[in-house]
Amino acid sequence: MTGVERVLVGVSGSIGVVSVCQYLLEMKVRLGAEVKVVTSAAAERMVPAETLALFCDEVIASDSPAARRAAHVVLPQWASVFTVLPASANVLADAARGAAPSPLTAAILAAEPGIVFFPNMNPRMWDNPAVRRNVATLREDGHVVVDPVAGPGFEVATGEVTPGATMPPPALAVELLREVTRTRRAGPGPG
Ligand SMILES: Cc1cc2nc3c(=O)[nH]c(=O)nc-3n(C[C@H](O)[C@H](O)[C@H](O)COP(=O)(O)O)c2cc1C
Repeated sequence: MTGVERVLVGVSGSIGVVSVCQYLLEMKVRLGAEVKVVTSAAAERMVPAETLALFCDEVIASDSPAARRAAHVVLPQWASVFTVLPASANVLADAARGAAPSPLTAAILAAEPGIVFFPNMNPRMWDNPAVRRNVATLREDGHVVVDPVAGPGFEVATGEVTPGATMPPPALAVELLREVTRTRRAGPGPG
């Protein structure tokens, strides 16, 4: 028993989506969790729902009947932990200003604070003051925004090799989810 029984994963349109299956697998294997995925339309253009479905228990695509049946309200309540992985700059902005133009952002708005965001974007985007403001707002609101790790990165748009702003590796990301869940369950300590 890991304490993380049910994971809701919001998958947004960051290029980090190409590695999301490894993270889903890690959640299944390492946590033994039931894993449901909500995708944005941009994410669906990058990785088909059919592929994600091989690595999780259910995929709720942005235009699916489940999404239209108010899954955005039900799913955050179902989840032991809600993570957005990868989190695009756009989804961080929507979440920070409380905008809900899609089932994924509606689920974020319907959830309790404590969502774990894993941003993944070009380092110039990550350093942009607007992104930093959105990250600060999300943290003030009680969410967890995991700093991307710098590492050798290939910049898809320009072909440059730069220090990337990417997600921590799957095993570490999953341990973070376990830790966030454990801390939340333990509640505030005395004093
Ligand atoms: C090939 C490609 C790669 C992209 N990679 C990223 C990325 O790594 N991070 C990011 O924040 N946005 C990235 N974008 C831009 C987002 O896909 C775009 O802002 C989109 O509207 C995000 O929608 P969503 O937040 O609803 O998923 C990329 C776009 C394309 C076409």
